[in-house]
Amino acid sequence: MNGHVIQLVLIAFIIKSVVSLKLLIVFPAGARSHYNLGNALGKGLANLGHEVTLVAPFSEPNPPKNFKEIVFEDVLKKYIDADKSLNLFDASHVSPFLYLFILNYFSSLMMEGFFKANETQDLLRSNETYDVVIVEQFLSDSLHALAEHFNAKLVVFSTVGSNTWTNNLVANPSPLSYVPDIFLGFSSDMTLLQRAYNLLFSIVAQLNLHFIAYPKQADLVRKYIPNAPDFTKIHYNVSLILLNSHESISQPVPYVPNMISIGGYHVNPPKQLPKDLQEFMDESKEGVIYFSMGSNLKPSQLPNRTKEIILKVLGSRKERVLWKWDEDQLKDQPRNVKISKWFPQQGILAHPNCKLFISHGGFLSTIETVTMGVPILALPVFGDQRLNAARAVALGFGNSLSFVTLSEEEFSSKLEELISNPKYRENVKLRSELIRDRPMKPIELADYWIRYVVKYNGAPHLRVAGINLPFYQYWLLDVIAVYLGGFILMMYLLKTLYRYMSKSNKQGKLSKKKKQ
Ligand SMILES: *[C@@H]1O[C@H](CO)[C@@H](O)[C@H](O)[C@H]1NC(C)=O
Repeated sequence: MNGHVIQLVLIAFIIKSVVSLKLLIVFPAGARSHYNLGNALGKGLANLGHEVTLVAPFSEPNPPKNFKEIVFEDVLKKYIDADKSLNLFDASHVSPFLYLFILNYFSSLMMEGFFKANETQDLLRSNETYDVVIVEQFLSDSLHALAEHFNAKLVVFSTVGSNTWTNNLVANPSPLSYVPDIFLGFSSDMTLLQRAYNLLFSIVAQLNLHFIAYPKQADLVRKYIPNAPDFTKIHYNVSLILLNSHESISQPVPYVPNMISIGGYHVNPPKQLPKDLQEFMDESKEGVIYFSMGSNLKPSQLPNRTKEIILKVLGSRKERVLWKWDEDQLKDQPRNVKISKWFPQQGILAHPNCKLFISHGGFLSTIETVTMGVPILALPVFGDQRLNAARAVALGFGNSLSFVTLSEEEFSSKLEELISNPKYRENVKLRSELIRDRPMKPIELADYWIRYVVKYNGAPHLRVAGINLPFYQYWLLDVIAVYLGGFILMMYLLKTLYRYMSKSNKQGKLSKKKKQ
């Protein structure tokens, strides 16, 4: 055998001898974008040799081998479909404070639905064991009990990078002076008023978590996994947090050692476009504007005035437009606009003729457009979309507009600026380079760390001590109390001493007088 063959045989042997793990991945949220992340994680890890079971309310048409799905019915969808008048664009008016409580409500509906589903009950009653349980973090902390139930290591996946929900689990420091809450839409550079707002909002968010959301999750565990240990014991027993974020687009923030950024892992090398689309894009000599509000928002529900403005402006452009539209017809459809209920987004963004992405500013869309190097015009609506849009503006690869106050002049001039001024494309190209410049592919990074926590029995050595401290110790409230107490005591003593001295002084003077 020559050296080359020996090398190949050795490599094959090494690959074979790498253990494959049994992974249970649970993504309960009934939102396509969340499922897409769970699906990409599951498929990516299955392709790396693991035996994956994905539990989610959607299913995969072409599952690879080692990839099993448990599909349960999404109760939220039933609820939302029943309400024909529901318009997600209305959510843009909701105050972030109210948003917290709306999320509580929906997440408890979602989690009740998950635990009640026959599929979940069958899974819980099965005698399966897994090496690792990976759960999506979306006010779904009760899922942490599954790791204990299946005798597995617990890995938490955050769809939006680090935030209050994930930081609490591993005691990750997140200074309020420069890390805005994701629902506020502030950038890292906050004014005094914004920082004050950030503090107030964070206090309310923490109170909500500790006094409403976590107790609700504990109830769910008691109800559906009755022999689980006390919730506080399992809740914080997190071995690893996988973050769907990366410094190339997310604000750089501190991470404790068991938080790993794998943002961008769901983006694949673009596949061949369908023939008609390929031709449409190839032939668009002036370029293509791609317009999509993501998988949840229905553009037909945009305010009429906004729709009219958009159609008028897009119809007057020399570029061709692809608009992801949720109905069969688009009234007054301009000749240069092509609609469809679904587009292969990554493939379109990767086409050299794609000039601009008009988007709701969702996080996945932002990651994809950055990876493919296309500037973005964001029309954010709710959740983290405002924050993503603010970052696109701050990093100079996009612009942001309100779909509510949109005017023809503003829309038209921002569109023109983004397409004709090369600085946006240059900035996004830099970000694209940054997100690709990693020591290993992000899915391989996830694989490495998952194996790592199994190898070192949950890797307790990565956990910071802060996770074991009670609240008052973590924030040094006891130390502050000691200093404050000491200070008050000292003032009291000084005052008493002063009184005593001035009294004896007076008496001294008096007695002196008497003697005279
Ligand atoms: C916490 O996690 C470790 C490592 O996975 C495990 O050995 C331990 O039993 C878990 N503790 C509880 C209370 O679940």
